[in-house]
Amino acid sequence: MHLHWSFVWASLLAASALEAQARTWDEAYALATDTVSQMTLDEKLGIAIGTGQLNSNRRCVGDTTAVARLGIPSICFQDGPAGLRLVKNVTGFPAGLNVAATFSRRLMRARGKAFGEEWRGKGAHVFLGPSLDIMRNPKAGRAWEAFGPDPYLTGEAGYETVMGVQSVGVQACAKHLIANNQEHWRYGYTSNVDDRTLQELYYYPFIRTIEAGVTSVMCAYNRFNGTSSCHNANLIGPNGLLQKSGFKGYVVSDWGATHDSAAENANNGLDMEQPGDYIVIGGGVYSSNNLKNAVNNGSVPQARINEMITRILAPWYQLGQDKDYPPTNFDAQKRDGSGSKNLRVNVRTNEHTALAREIASASAVLLKNSRSTTTGSPSGITTRGLPVAKDRIKTIAVVGQDAKLPNLNCNELNECNDGTMSVGWGSGSNSLEFLIPPIDAITSFTGSSATITSSLSNDLDEGAKAAKGKDVAYVFVNAMSGELGSYTFVVGNQGDRNDLNLWWKGGSLVERVAAVCNNTIVIVHSVGPVVMSWSAHPNITGIIYAGTPGEQTGPSIVDVIYGNYNPAGKLPFSIADSEDAYGTEIVYNSLGFPEINYTEKLLLDYRYMDNKNIKPRFEFGFGLSYTTFAYSGLSVQQSGSSYAVSFTVANTGAFAGAEKPQLYLAYPAAAGEPKKVLRGFEEVILQPGASSTVTLTLNERDMSVWDVPSQKYVRSSGTFNVLVGASSLDIRLQSSITV
Ligand SMILES: *[C@@H]1O[C@H](CO)[C@@H](O)[C@H](O)[C@H]1NC(C)=O
Ligand SMILES: *[C@@H]1O[C@H](CO)[C@@H](O)[C@H](O)[C@H]1NC(C)=O
Ligand SMILES: *[C@@H]1O[C@H](CO)[C@@H](O)[C@H](O)[C@H]1NC(C)=O
Ligand SMILES: *[C@@H]1O[C@H](CO)[C@@H](O)[C@H](O)[C@H]1NC(C)=O
Ligand SMILES: *[C@@H]1O[C@H](CO)[C@@H](O)[C@H](O)[C@H]1NC(C)=O
Ligand SMILES: *[C@@H]1O[C@H](CO)[C@@H](O)[C@H](O)[C@H]1NC(C)=O
Repeated sequence: MHLHWSFVWASLLAASALEAQARTWDEAYALATDTVSQMTLDEKLGIAIGTGQLNSNRRCVGDTTAVARLGIPSICFQDGPAGLRLVKNVTGFPAGLNVAATFSRRLMRARGKAFGEEWRGKGAHVFLGPSLDIMRNPKAGRAWEAFGPDPYLTGEAGYETVMGVQSVGVQACAKHLIANNQEHWRYGYTSNVDDRTLQELYYYPFIRTIEAGVTSVMCAYNRFNGTSSCHNANLIGPNGLLQKSGFKGYVVSDWGATHDSAAENANNGLDMEQPGDYIVIGGGVYSSNNLKNAVNNGSVPQARINEMITRILAPWYQLGQDKDYPPTNFDAQKRDGSGSKNLRVNVRTNEHTALAREIASASAVLLKNSRSTTTGSPSGITTRGLPVAKDRIKTIAVVGQDAKLPNLNCNELNECNDGTMSVGWGSGSNSLEFLIPPIDAITSFTGSSATITSSLSNDLDEGAKAAKGKDVAYVFVNAMSGELGSYTFVVGNQGDRNDLNLWWKGGSLVERVAAVCNNTIVIVHSVGPVVMSWSAHPNITGIIYAGTPGEQTGPSIVDVIYGNYNPAGKLPFSIADSEDAYGTEIVYNSLGFPEINYTEKLLLDYRYMDNKNIKPRFEFGFGLSYTTFAYSGLSVQQSGSSYAVSFTVANTGAFAGAEKPQLYLAYPAAAGEPKKVLRGFEEVILQPGASSTVTLTLNERDMSVWDVPSQKYVRSSGTFNVLVGASSLDIRLQSSITV
């Protein structure tokens, strides 16, 4: 029986951790209101305004000024969404797009909780994540920090991340509000999005994090509908989206994302400005006495400054950060861990290392496996393809710069690509203090069982020479992207990728190796889709898309290659042959900040490809296993305004493994939705021969569209088709619901 066990497990876990410290919002607001009533204006301003990027006393990437007499510490904000950045003795977790590829709420939650434990251990109050930026275009520079192009998957991953982080009393910060979908021109482009598209695609994940109780939201650099996100009343104002969704926390600016006057920002909903001073790209609207003068001359009402500080302090009380929270014990300005403020607390635990490795394995997507066995039956020993039988392989080639250790001291934003790619660059990069590269993990695992010949560059001739005639060749290739930041180019790419090609002629390297080795296994480390024109090559017996797996990259891929972990990842995006298949563009060239009109509306990725009858090379939700799964017995039961969708998944192969069944909904035509949309998924772990029943719930909102005139979700009427399958194109079971 496998019925929502992960929900049960997760809710028990959340309850036990929270009961100890957390308060209700009402209790928290009462305490915050009382504290604020005792504050002077200067004390309030010290909380509304970050202490400054240029302040040498700053310990975190953002802090506020303590009010010691009232017991309020400096609130510490720290990057980023894949692990603590600029801090030593922390775990480098897989990035957001990888945890999305697990299609596992269990792992999404566990990763969030582990973040919470590390932030708490270091005395950082606010985890600057999750990133909920939808992958509108596959080249978008920061898409790997978030959860892909699908709003449902993004919403679930966001929800679970927040639940996990906050379960141990650390604040999460949902970002970036909103439609922050490319890096070029990000400091001022406007995303012009119609209301329904905004609600159903870009804003929906924020709703899920608000439902998880997220305590802060970060407004984005870009403008939305022409107005700066950080003073956009429609987003953050008293009658804006966040308030209408029941958001109880505060709005903090992205670092330097504020423009215009203090009053314009404060009155339209910005509660806190970070980092507080002017930085090259903007900011500083509250500092230099601007907010103070605006309050003193009445252009920002007293009630509003009080509300700002109450909103900031209420989450601190709500999560119990006033009770035995560790003081901040690191110094982000000394990322080598030196200095008297770095107390060298080690928050790496064996559990976190094991979790980082498990998530990295669980997010590896097996795209191709041309397996041959000794007997020709699934239970035989592999002779070609995966999982590789260690005992049968005597000669191994490891090819590609991506197999080797990168420079772990690249720079504070990880703006290099000189070895294996385990995380993108920018503020979302984690600190790469520890990393086990694939070459080391393979060498250590195979020991004396095989001879390894390596070519750890992307030199085409050297790679082919190393691979020729070997029993197996592992080719490691990558593509990277990151944050625009201070306009750095990394291998010619400025934040957003230039194209969907592998870097360093990776595609040619794969082809040259496959020409001389008939058991070529390709491992792709990438921040999103890459062109895989070579995927059908008969000598390529395996392809694993491993994304950005974090510090345990080597061990996690060894686990998958050699069958210690049966791959169960599913693509959180589609891999097509050209960018045209995605229907959107990055605006690179413009005379001044561009207007970006979201004319594709609801049609991203598989939704667009379905609509245009484009068959991608590998579709959204796709991923193979070393075993096989059968689906049967779909039934749909109404219960009030919800529907319970039940079916059975059986492991029909020879290996234990996990399947990630997906539920897609096809709305009645009149609803104007894409041909199908994801509305459910589950993780089902099965021994060979075992089966279990999965029940997924479709609630009323899952069957609704955003109705613009009434400004709410309204359930469509007519016949819905319920599609259950192993990917967005591999639908195994169908039923319908008429309402
Ligand atoms: C943004 O602009 C579009 C097009 O004018 C409009 O339909 C939509 O309602 C606006 N959204 C918000 C939240 O103001
Ligand atoms: C109030 O102070 C702000 C900040 O100094 C200033 O920009 C604004 O013009 C002032 N408004 C009035 C009405 O004096
Ligand atoms: C890391 O933690 C270890 C203890 O496990 C400690 O000896 C070391 O000084 C720490 N290093 C830094 C830079 O924090
Ligand atoms: C693959 O190549 C090896 C050695 O190069 C050869 O012994 C083997 O027969 C080939 N296998 C297939 C299926 O082509
Ligand atoms: C596959 O590899 C073998 C070497 O094992 C080589 O002779 C053959 O040409 C390759 N096939 C292709 C299509 O490149
Ligand atoms: C975006 O839409 C606006 C308003 O309809 C229009 O003026 C502008 O030219 C459009 N921009 C682009 C780049 O298409």
